[in-house]
Amino acid sequence: MTEPCTLAVLVSGNGSNLQAVIDAVASGLLDAKIEVVVSNKPAAYALERAALSGIPTEVLEASETDRSVYDAKLAELVASYDPDLVVLAGWNRLLTQTFLSSQIVINLHPALPETFAGLGCIEKSYDAFQTGEVAEVGIMVHYVPDEGVDDGPVVASQIVPLSTSDSLQDYAARVHEAEHQLIVKAIETVGSELLG
Ligand code: GRF
Repeated sequence: MTEPCTLAVLVSGNGSNLQAVIDAVASGLLDAKIEVVVSNKPAAYALERAALSGIPTEVLEASETDRSVYDAKLAELVASYDPDLVVLAGWNRLLTQTFLSSQIVINLHPALPETFAGLGCIEKSYDAFQTGEVAEVGIMVHYVPDEGVDDGPVVASQIVPLSTSDSLQDYAARVHEAEHQLIVKAIETVGSELLG
């Protein structure tokens, strides 16, 4: 039997994707162990979700003006938990090489590869579909090898159904439901690549 893939999950907000990972681990669906949840926002509800499951939490607020100073502190903090993999699950801060060169990192992003980047991509995808600019919309998990924004080798992607009669709220709900499955699948894929 192989060891579970050890994870550091980085969050900034609600943490519904973190919850999906916690639940998949608890039910035995995912052979992984969350060593730590790190937030850059002290009020992130994700921290409560982690604490309720007995997972260590850390908060590292971004008061530094220099990104590399912050990222060096983050790298040191995450390294102290020695994870196999870092999962960005609703982490809203750009990371530099100072952090990225020290860990294997994947990011969950609510747009298909090579479509939309940055914040508000559920809305951007929805609007682009409604105006006919794109024919398909969806989500992805990708590696974060460098400082490219929401860009990197794709681990898994999924088209999320959308029709012209759907509201943005309908689409957003479907995106989140799909994300909760895809993040688990992506961790399983990367975990078995890393640990065999
Ligand atoms: C998700 O839509 C994710 O794709 C994006 O931020 C959102 C986080 O949601 N990067 P949650 O905090 O996991 O509920």
